[in-house]
Amino acid sequence: MPATSAALKVEAPVTTPTTNAKVLAFVEQARAMFKPDTVYWCDGSPEEYQAMLKVMVDTGTAQWLNPDKRPNSILVRSDPADVARVEDQTYICSLKEEDAGPTNNWSDPAKMKETLGKLSDGAMQGRTMYVIPYSMGPVGSPIANIGVEITDSPYVVANMHIMARVGTKVWEALGDGAFVRGMHTVASPLKSQTQADVSWPCSTTKYISHFPETREVWSYGSGYGGNALLGKKCHALRIASVQARDEGWLAEHMLILKLTNPEGKVKYIAAAFPSACGKTNLAMLVPTIPGWKAETIGDDICWMKPGADGQLYAINPEAGFFGVAPGTSDESNYNAMQALKHDCIFTNVGLTDDGDIWWEQMGPPPANAIDWLRRPWTPKSGRPAAHPNSRFTAPARQCPVIADEWEDPNGVPISAILFGGRRASVVPLVTEALSWQHGTFLGSIMASEKTAAAAGKIGELRRDPMAMLPFCGYHMGDYFVHWLDICSLPCTKNPKIFYVNWFRKNADGKFLWPGYGENSRVLKWVFERCDETADAVDTPIGRLPTADALDTSGLKIDGAALKELLAVDAAGWKAEVPSIEQHFEAFGKRLPQGLKDELEGLRKRLG
Ligand code: OXD
Ligand code: MN
Repeated sequence: MPATSAALKVEAPVTTPTTNAKVLAFVEQARAMFKPDTVYWCDGSPEEYQAMLKVMVDTGTAQWLNPDKRPNSILVRSDPADVARVEDQTYICSLKEEDAGPTNNWSDPAKMKETLGKLSDGAMQGRTMYVIPYSMGPVGSPIANIGVEITDSPYVVANMHIMARVGTKVWEALGDGAFVRGMHTVASPLKSQTQADVSWPCSTTKYISHFPETREVWSYGSGYGGNALLGKKCHALRIASVQARDEGWLAEHMLILKLTNPEGKVKYIAAAFPSACGKTNLAMLVPTIPGWKAETIGDDICWMKPGADGQLYAINPEAGFFGVAPGTSDESNYNAMQALKHDCIFTNVGLTDDGDIWWEQMGPPPANAIDWLRRPWTPKSGRPAAHPNSRFTAPARQCPVIADEWEDPNGVPISAILFGGRRASVVPLVTEALSWQHGTFLGSIMASEKTAAAAGKIGELRRDPMAMLPFCGYHMGDYFVHWLDICSLPCTKNPKIFYVNWFRKNADGKFLWPGYGENSRVLKWVFERCDETADAVDTPIGRLPTADALDTSGLKIDGAALKELLAVDAAGWKAEVPSIEQHFEAFGKRLPQGLKDELEGLRKRLG
């Protein structure tokens, strides 16, 4: 029987590590409400990380993996009812309902706080309340931002150690400044001295609530991923998107890639794809074209600020990768597999006989394993060993192709922005936008087939503007306005925008494009279009590579497939126009004129 976490208190410092009055009041208010047994102020040290792993192992949340195969790594298995972000229970509690817009659930902030306040009374009984100071972005960077997360989950503390910069240095950088307030509880109090803990405490009642005006997050009932690691989606996207609008920058759901051509010229590219559409793979791709080099700056989130020279400068606010495990292999993402060799947390994957991890498409299946639900598994079981949204948490510094400048506090200048999704038809392999406004339009109509990263029906097509549908903390119509505004003044050297689709299928349902490392061929064209050294042809939907502009040397691809990938499906686009109109209608008066003009322009060009 797992021991109660109350029996495993970690030594707390005698004095508080900060004198910031706002922090002290915040922590005291949380303590009085949650009523934990102990308050622990995290210092971010390696010893603290190890202590969290030990707590998880001792309480049955985690088990050590074979140290000869995955040194210092653990396998965590969550409650089967707590395996993904819960978009239905995610709220933007802006003062005015209209400011949350049609794509968010809204609740009155006072009412939400009353509900959560009642639910949270005593919610941490029998547990330790951890106070995590964290910086999204290199500590002290002018683009970074500080938050304080309160949580009763050692899993969250350990993951935050990897995903953000955590600890004493953050208190020093914060001084008496402002910070994003995050409160998180798994909402599973241990009410008596003799109540045994469960291996993954959580609640059937879940709320992931954001208060954009006051820069607060309050997360109740889930211990999983983006619901609980508040620095990630809650702070770095939902709250930061509001900060970015207010302050004139962009907080986006994008990877950042460094590309170097054979002459040694460098460009940085940011790319937005909906969850589980291969961002981590693209961020670490191994180019197949000789002489080209790709390195990683980030795989999920990108904060971009206009610099004094008129370019957009980007940082990766995260310090680790929280990647979808199934489908990751030496073939699909060699560099991620290298990053996973040691010091990682694996959640909801399969366990092999020899104490290692396995997931679907990782390599040959083991003869026997234990699945994520702790049941015996064989390749004949007829069900996956790993949950489709199982994850690895890995420090970014362990990635062999992490770029030297990935922690540059000033960020890297962005030359191109890619938008993409999973589209079996209509959308070509790559299209260059005709202008910033046209690119914003392409981002605003992005659509993808739904994946397992969020609860819901897989395969359904949903419009996911800029891959921000679940992450924009305010009215999406205003977000489009902000996109159109940002690249006039003060940003004068706009990145070029491209729309890509690696997922096009033929009539038999087979992928037309090989993807993965071969995507470097598309990136080469993008790179060269930034300098206008590659050819393009204007079409009604944007600029496409001319027949020989895409480098296909050495690529085994059928001529007809390539033609289909780069063709304009005018009938398909015409059929999309009503669905784009319907999508736009939802934004009402807040839809900017520029996007209406672009839709009209598309309709006219299609004839
Ligand atoms: C993620 C997501 O976890 O987008 O990155 O869901
Ligand atoms: Mn993501």
